[in-house]
Amino acid sequence: MRKLVAILFGMIMLLGLSAPGGQEFAEQKPDRRYFMRQKLTRTQEALEGIVVADYAMVAKSAQDISVLCMDESWSVIQTMEYADRTKQFQRVADQLAEMAREENYEAVTLKYGELVNQCFACHQAMRGVVPGR
Ligand code: HEC
Repeated sequence: MRKLVAILFGMIMLLGLSAPGGQEFAEQKPDRRYFMRQKLTRTQEALEGIVVADYAMVAKSAQDISVLCMDESWSVIQTMEYADRTKQFQRVADQLAEMAREENYEAVTLKYGELVNQCFACHQAMRGVVPGR
């Protein structure tokens, strides 16, 4: 029994080490920068979903973005402006998910543009405000 546990444990360790970027992932996960970069990958996925007309992909990415907004890691700045911009951004992400579920191509493309504009606006407004960076 002990041996079996040891073997299993060994296999898990091995899997963890050999998975592509597995260890890196585990180390970076709690990191704020890694968290923030999730917005970028999800936004890229949404773009991919739009250009290949994969609405499920768009809806999923937009929903993931919305969930990120509720994570405590998002709250790097405690100001009304940041909270307001976050709320607005989350609303647009939710709307994008909804439009995608309705498979409304025109609305999806417009919402995507709105979403990306909010990335630019918030980054521009918050530049240099983040503590420790
Ligand atoms: C409500 C404000 C806000 C919105 C909207 C926003 N961001 Fe950010 N983002 C931030 C802040 C603040 C940081 C910096 C956090 C830090 O320095 O740790 C950041 C950091 C990032 C980073 C990490 C940069 C680095 O240092 O590696 C990326 C990538 C990023 N955002 C992408 C996006 C994308 C893509 C969108 C739109 C889909 C977006 N953000 C929307 C506030 C925002």
